[in-house]
Amino acid sequence: MELHGAAAVITGGGSGLGAATAAHLAALGCKVAVLDINLASAEASAARFGGLGIACDVASGPSGEAAMAQARAAHGPARILVNCAGVGTAGRIVGRDGPLALEAFERVVRINLIGSFNMLRLAAAEMSSADPMEENERGVIINTASIAAYEGQIGQPAYAASKGGVVGMTLPAARELARAGVRVVTIAPGLFHTPMVDGLPAEVQASLGAGIPYPPRLGRPEEYAALVEHILRNRFLNGEVIRLDGALRMPPR
Ligand SMILES: NC(=O)c1ccc[n+]([C@@H]2O[C@H](COP(=O)([O-])OP(=O)(O)OC[C@H]3O[C@@H](n4cnc5c(N)ncnc54)[C@H](O)[C@@H]3O)[C@@H](O)[C@H]2O)c1
Repeated sequence: MELHGAAAVITGGGSGLGAATAAHLAALGCKVAVLDINLASAEASAARFGGLGIACDVASGPSGEAAMAQARAAHGPARILVNCAGVGTAGRIVGRDGPLALEAFERVVRINLIGSFNMLRLAAAEMSSADPMEENERGVIINTASIAAYEGQIGQPAYAASKGGVVGMTLPAARELARAGVRVVTIAPGLFHTPMVDGLPAEVQASLGAGIPYPPRLGRPEEYAALVEHILRNRFLNGEVIRLDGALRMPPR
């Protein structure tokens, strides 16, 4: 896809992988809308490259619709959606206080899985009615799963289930949207150096990194953003989930 001038929507773009992707796509000439539940961080992220920061709760239908409409009014129909919004809340099935609260499980699935689908469906509708570009391509949707979709650790039943759902919807979405020339690809990151990890003590960060076969360090958000760029440019990539993890396979705990 020709990236210069293409309208891009990045959810969770106020922080971490989403913020790096937003800045990277803006540097390539995309018109970038940064959506985040935290408006201040969306605006701060967008201000780094003169983009648009928009408040959006991806888990809410009306909020997603309003944010997509605001982005469309400013930049035209979205050609790129990168779903980065997510939460990693952990909780054992049976903890000290008894069984995991159903609401806790539901919240993680609601944001990570239903939120990704919410934005995917809205972007897919917008892309499907946009003008075709080269080879009838109309848009690209990139989701973010996690290697926890395959090797969920103890305490990650909700997170792993939510990310497994994102993996599972990738192929049916790509198959359905193929007629419209819309590709769907999912990235399953390993451990990345984002604000989530920044909060941990330095020695914990170092030991997390040392457990990664090669390179023995945490992933850099720019490496995630570079894969996003490649997916956007490589039209033959579709319906696939790509691990980006330095060969890490997570142990049970
Ligand atoms: N960092 C890692 O090691 C890692 C590994 C595997 C997968 N991931 C996934 O990558 C994605 C980005 O992670 P990150 O490390 O950049 O996290 P992060 O916490 O730095 O950023 C996530 C952003 O999502 C936003 N957000 C949360 N709930 C939202 C909602 N309901 N609506 C809109 N925005 C919301 C947050 O405000 C935040 O700005 C997540 O889906 C995460 O599960 C991260």
